[in-house]
Amino acid sequence: MTTSPATPIRLGVNIDHIATVRNARGGTHPDPVKGALLAQASGADGITAHLREDRRHIRDADLERLRADLSIPLNMEMAATEEMTTIATRLRPHACCLVPERRQEVTTEGGLDVRGQASELAPRITRLRDAGIRVSLFIDPDPAQIETAAQLGAAVVELHTGAYADAMDEAARAIEHGRLMAGAEHAARCGLEVHAGHGLTYDNVGPIATLPQVMELNIGHFLIGQAIFDGLPAVIRHMKDVIAAARK
Ligand code: PXP
Repeated sequence: MTTSPATPIRLGVNIDHIATVRNARGGTHPDPVKGALLAQASGADGITAHLREDRRHIRDADLERLRADLSIPLNMEMAATEEMTTIATRLRPHACCLVPERRQEVTTEGGLDVRGQASELAPRITRLRDAGIRVSLFIDPDPAQIETAAQLGAAVVELHTGAYADAMDEAARAIEHGRLMAGAEHAARCGLEVHAGHGLTYDNVGPIATLPQVMELNIGHFLIGQAIFDGLPAVIRHMKDVIAAARK
């Protein structure tokens, strides 16, 4: 599959941390669904929400409302568990991104081991696909993981950009960028649509946006944090401009 470098990238806005702030006081403000609708009105191409097993931010009722109210695609992030698969197949979001989940982690640390868990993942992916849901697997840019994702019938791989974002110096960042570049090329050759995300900011998104196979970036923490200073609409518009400028 060849992709023109000029193909626009979609920006998926992850709204989990609006819910984190809401839950800090146990009330209803700020409402993540209101945030999602504002993101939609400000140019977001999709909304991502991660229903974690411990419900630390997004709750079941948030997802129900997102599903009912959004007109842009909803990407439900979830662990590949029986509970989450049942919720997803009832809710039928546009896409489900399967991620690894550990209760004690602060955020999604590292990609899903699709190779090691292939036999458990296969029936869940089939059920999601049978419900008409586009399945994405959040993985490190590792050739074996990519090949297994394709064999399991995923439509999309989302490449984990955390190691790139957290690199301590330019040399380390270049190495991680090279891995992402090779991973994106390999995934496209395997027939997978390529997304990327984790830890992306105005400062580091450019080199990821230049990868021609990457069709969608999912960004949360930075956008919601920066919205405290600049407001969500301005932050989304600026991020889209930064991405578009890098893509040219
Ligand atoms: N993509 C996936 C699959 C994630 O798990 C996360 C974090 O929830 C993100 C993207 C967004 O990462 P960040 O919040 O660091 O922008």
